[in-house]
Amino acid sequence: MSTVLVTGGCGYIGSHTVVELLLRGDDVVVVDNLSNSSLESIKRVETITERVPHFIEVDILDRAELRCVFDKYRPDSVVHFAGLKAVGESVSKPLSYYQNNVAGTANLCEVMAEHGVFSLVFSSSATVYGDPETLPLREDAPLGATNPYGRSKLFVEEMLRDLQISDPRWRIALLRYFNPIGAHPSGMIGEDPRGIPNNLFPFITQVAVGRREKLAIFGDDYPTPDGTGVRDYIHVVDLALGHLKALDYLAEKEGILTCNLGTGQGYSVLDMVRSFERVNGVTIPYDIVPRRPGDIASCWADPSVAAEQLDWKATRSLDDMCTDGWRWQQQNHIGYLP
Ligand code: NAD
Ligand code: UFG
Repeated sequence: MSTVLVTGGCGYIGSHTVVELLLRGDDVVVVDNLSNSSLESIKRVETITERVPHFIEVDILDRAELRCVFDKYRPDSVVHFAGLKAVGESVSKPLSYYQNNVAGTANLCEVMAEHGVFSLVFSSSATVYGDPETLPLREDAPLGATNPYGRSKLFVEEMLRDLQISDPRWRIALLRYFNPIGAHPSGMIGEDPRGIPNNLFPFITQVAVGRREKLAIFGDDYPTPDGTGVRDYIHVVDLALGHLKALDYLAEKEGILTCNLGTGQGYSVLDMVRSFERVNGVTIPYDIVPRRPGDIASCWADPSVAAEQLDWKATRSLDDMCTDGWRWQQQNHIGYLP
């Protein structure tokens, strides 16, 4: 059993990962500034797992507070989710993204090193591949982000590579997530975006539950089988389990690992709408509207590095994602709000 510090552990992917860590017996310390989440997610995690993680409301930009957390809880490793993630907002507020995502990670690493903690799992993103030249995407594909959010992820990847070269005690996993969706099968935790959802799946669930009138499909003239954008959607529980495998890997192996976490299968927007309608017996009204600026046509992973190095594969289907995501939305019409 070990003690894992989870930054951003109240958020969407973090809360699902905390559940899996607690269920396998690890001690968990969550730090989160609650800028995009609520403490209710941790209460729900406690109900699901019948265990209690430590929670400290801390901004990772506050080095003194972070030091106190490390002094008190002495974690063995860190899973680092904390950061900002809205692509559009990153264009209007780039400095917030470089502060929270890049400076925040630098702070965290400094405090880790001061406390002799050198095992880090970092949330990167398929967005670092930019507009792919070839598919499926392998980890050695050319990199190039197209917005400040993506660049903040690229910069952190480079920073962590430099850090590991400077001191070989560091063991780092850079996990490039494809499109996480769905929710815990209990329906107790899930994605709870503030305001109008930017992403496809929460928009669909909010249409289904009556919070939004219609889905706008951004373009049907892409070079894809039905003209709508294709993505590699991955169940958030599969993604969470990938982090446990990454921690196990770092316990055994030195160095830095860059690894896609995706299913290897692409689905279009219309595939998603139809699957959601079929498995849940609901109708999702939609309009086709012009393309969203900055969107790419298609993106899916080659997940073979994760299979070989982490012994991890996504096992949950698109139908599972639709069923579990709908259960969460039905049980929580307005998310975590009472
Ligand atoms: P989320 O917003 O639900 O979770 C992030 C958490 O970090 C939130 O609870 C927020 O309050 C917290 N946080 C933000 N800034 C902080 C700070 N300065 N100090 C302390 N806490 C802070 O997002 P998520 O979807 O769970 O994403 C987790 C990570 O995965 C992020 O780094 C994100 O960029 C990355 N990622 C997400 C996706 C996706 O589609 N959801 C895809 C690729 C990568
Ligand atoms: N889409 C719509 N209507 C919507 C929202 C999305 O048609 O209301 C379409 C998009 O055009 C795209 C697909 O649905 O074809 C998926 O869009 P998302 O916004 O759900 O996801 P993206 O692939 O654009 O981006 C997401 C995150 C990024 C992350 C990337 C890869 O928002 O931060 O996945 O992990 F980098």
